[in-house]
Amino acid sequence: MKKNKNINIAIDGPAGAGKSTIAKMVSKELGYIYVDTGALYRAAALYITENGIADEDIAEELEKADISLRFVEGVQCVYVGDKDVSGLIRTPEISMAASRTSAIPAVRAYLFETQKKIARENNVIMDGRDIGTVVLPDADVKIFLTASAEERANRRYKELLEKPDCPTYEEILSDIIKRDYQDMHRETSPLKQAEDAILVDTTELNLEQSAQAIVDIIREKTS
Ligand code: DC
Repeated sequence: MKKNKNINIAIDGPAGAGKSTIAKMVSKELGYIYVDTGALYRAAALYITENGIADEDIAEELEKADISLRFVEGVQCVYVGDKDVSGLIRTPEISMAASRTSAIPAVRAYLFETQKKIARENNVIMDGRDIGTVVLPDADVKIFLTASAEERANRRYKELLEKPDCPTYEEILSDIIKRDYQDMHRETSPLKQAEDAILVDTTELNLEQSAQAIVDIIREKTS
């Protein structure tokens, strides 16, 4: 019987703060599994949108969705039934839909146990909006990762510049401000810093500096 409890690290913060890129770098360094919980909310939004499910039917209909995460050589893929939807969920439409549907309590209740189970069974770095406050209130380390809205928009703009139909900087900034507002003002599990979370502001830091700051915090707290 395994005696050691698995180590759980919670990283929360607003959209575009670099959570996933930074959490992936940190998990590689520490040998933990990286869990991007936003992908679960995006998959739920995809399922709801594709099947035209009305809000009042979501609780019942989501039970049939069979949304899960699978890890292939440490890389997370998100599935709806047997279909890998990891690519399909990364569109601006699904970003906005996920921000809306993730406020629905039935969606959060449905995904809650999926997240708890992965954290129970593995050493994880889990990123999201309510990991430190709701999903893993007893996490070993909690980080609240943020950056100014302008800097987050700037980073996203640079990422998208190469792509066709790149939105303008102003459109990206306005999307970020709207999503921040929705994520922070919903009734169920709003985005907020847990009281015992450590704030890491990456406005003035590059990716390596941000990842190093978090690795240092985790090493100090778990040694
Ligand atoms: O991190 P992301 O942009 O992929 O998340 C997509 C949406 O899902 C985001 O608008 C907020 C929501 N979300 C949430 O409510 N709780 C989480 N733990 C993760 C994401």
